[in-house]
Amino acid sequence: MTNRILVLPGDGIGPEITAEAVKVLDACYEEGFDMELVFGKVGGDAIDATGVPLPDETLKAAHDADAILLGAVGGPKWEALEPREHRPEKGLLGIRKGLELYANLRPAILYPQLAEASTLRPEVVSGLDIMIVRELTGDIYFGEPRGFGEKEDGTRYGYNTYISDEKEIRRIGRTAFDLARKRNRKVCSVDKANVLEASMLWREIMNDIAKDYPDVELSHMYIDNASMQLVRAPKQFDVIVTGNMFGDILSDEASMLTGSIGMLPSASLNASGQGMFEPSHGSAPDIAGQNIANPLATILSAAMMLRYSLEAPELADRIERAVGDVLDQGLRTADIMQEGARRVTTSEMGDAVVEAFKRLK
Ligand code: NAD
Ligand code: IPM
Ligand code: MN
Repeated sequence: MTNRILVLPGDGIGPEITAEAVKVLDACYEEGFDMELVFGKVGGDAIDATGVPLPDETLKAAHDADAILLGAVGGPKWEALEPREHRPEKGLLGIRKGLELYANLRPAILYPQLAEASTLRPEVVSGLDIMIVRELTGDIYFGEPRGFGEKEDGTRYGYNTYISDEKEIRRIGRTAFDLARKRNRKVCSVDKANVLEASMLWREIMNDIAKDYPDVELSHMYIDNASMQLVRAPKQFDVIVTGNMFGDILSDEASMLTGSIGMLPSASLNASGQGMFEPSHGSAPDIAGQNIANPLATILSAAMMLRYSLEAPELADRIERAVGDVLDQGLRTADIMQEGARRVTTSEMGDAVVEAFKRLK
């Protein structure tokens, strides 16, 4: 069966990094992986072409696809755009919500070759392998009511609602416990249950789910402590499960344990296994168009796509080994550059991964 993959390059470095992941997918195709790539527009790219960040055509193509590969959206050109529903980020959030992609997996794995590239001491991060499971379709991102208001005395205010319901918490909790069973059987649930009602319910449901998983150890941590523990002793974690906003912040923090945000891939899955795959970082406007961005997070996201949505785990493994191989060769983009290594561009890095992939049959 032909695998239909929708590619949404988006903005900033998006087109540069997705082009490299597409090269790797093309190499899979050459070896018999049956796929069809369809290209679409999202974010600022779609605003410029159609006036809206998520054209109906893109959402339909997303529904029809077996998997989606996305670069990144957003940038200074559109950040003050009105109405705010038309900003690039709404395109991304619209696909997540539209396809019910509630389970966001963000694996923070340190390639041993990059132990010295991390800003933390090698002994703190070596061997690191954490899976952050972030709830992606609820929380303060989507809660209503939201908006701006004005008090009687003329003072303006902005407000959002942090709401998470039992069903949402239960399904993301199950995702985390199921994943933990295939790993080191530890789940740390991160919340702010000492203050927020939404978190109190979150914690109650997590405790309830744990009863069905007696073989998995559940612990709880407040978000402030977890942020500190993640840089103090990150290897204490196996699976971290948390809400949309806490997960957004923790995953950027965790990326630095792996050397760079340019190394952190992600998968966003729904209940039927359909998924969108994108690097955890943004459109990096500060380095866009220079061919210097690190494409590895996007290439590793393509590997996650093959593993989680397209039932091709051997190809996923081989891409990950190819990434290890280019790091062994000492090839580094600017963000992970180390003494004695060879600095390469975005496209040279992609080419090197393809070359290693072909060799590592
Ligand atoms: P960012 O992740 O784009 O960039 C933060 C820093 O990391 C920058 O210095 C950037 O150069 C660097 N960086 C990011 N990716 C890199 C890569 N692959 N290689 C090397 N360096 C890399 O975050 P930001 O600057 O806060 O946001 C920029 C724009 O991206 C905003 O419009 C934001 O809304 C959007 N954004 C989009 C996504 C997404 O599409 N999933 C995620 C985060 C931010
Ligand atoms: C991410 C991004 C998005 C988020 C933004 C661009 C909407 O930061 O994918 O991590 O907050 O989820
Ligand atoms: Mn983010």
